[in-house]
Amino acid sequence: MYIFVDTANTDEIREAASWGIVSGVTTNPSLIAKEGRDFKTVVKEITGIVDGSISAEVMADDAEGMIAEGRELAAIHPNITIKIPMTEEGLKAVHVLSKEDIKTNVTLIFSAAQALLAARAGASYVSPFVGRLDDIGNEGLRVIEDIVTIFALHEIGTKIIAASIRTPMHVLDCARAGADIATVPFGVLKKMFRHPLTDQGIAQFKKDWEDAGLK
Ligand code: G3P
Repeated sequence: MYIFVDTANTDEIREAASWGIVSGVTTNPSLIAKEGRDFKTVVKEITGIVDGSISAEVMADDAEGMIAEGRELAAIHPNITIKIPMTEEGLKAVHVLSKEDIKTNVTLIFSAAQALLAARAGASYVSPFVGRLDDIGNEGLRVIEDIVTIFALHEIGTKIIAASIRTPMHVLDCARAGADIATVPFGVLKKMFRHPLTDQGIAQFKKDWEDAGLK
């Protein structure tokens, strides 16, 4: 499973990229708004940091508007993936953009049925939201498992990006379930590093080294 970073903060992206673990970046309108910067400027900057899929979301409600925004965003850099909400208008836009070889990521997926429709419309990626399903008492992971099973059974090439990831356990569960990618917030990535035995081990190695008078 590949790891994308789910943030529009370029400092966080730079830091995570320096660890060598980032294969792509996802943004959404809320993450962009949080940064208080111009959308296209941020997206362009990200393309200079990470050499992989960079999801940028359209804001129009109708297919025509989404297609126009999608073409404009795709022109910024070949790595831009157009993130489109899971609606009927959204799938119309996916259908048109995919035929122009513009990569698409259908977002706000909460069921395997939605994922199947998005894939058949030509989506390059689908983004099922694990955490938001858990929040309302559904099992987000079940949706990931269902999509993995259905896509494998029918040899569907659309990649599954597990999104709305809240904990390191979510990342592991999605990896076990067979998601192609997990898009992980910076804070969760940092938590994945931590283990008390690693910290204790480092402290002990240092102490033993110094106690022996080694330089
Ligand atoms: O970008 C989509 C997704 O990862 C959002 O996560 O935490 O707002 O549900 P969250």
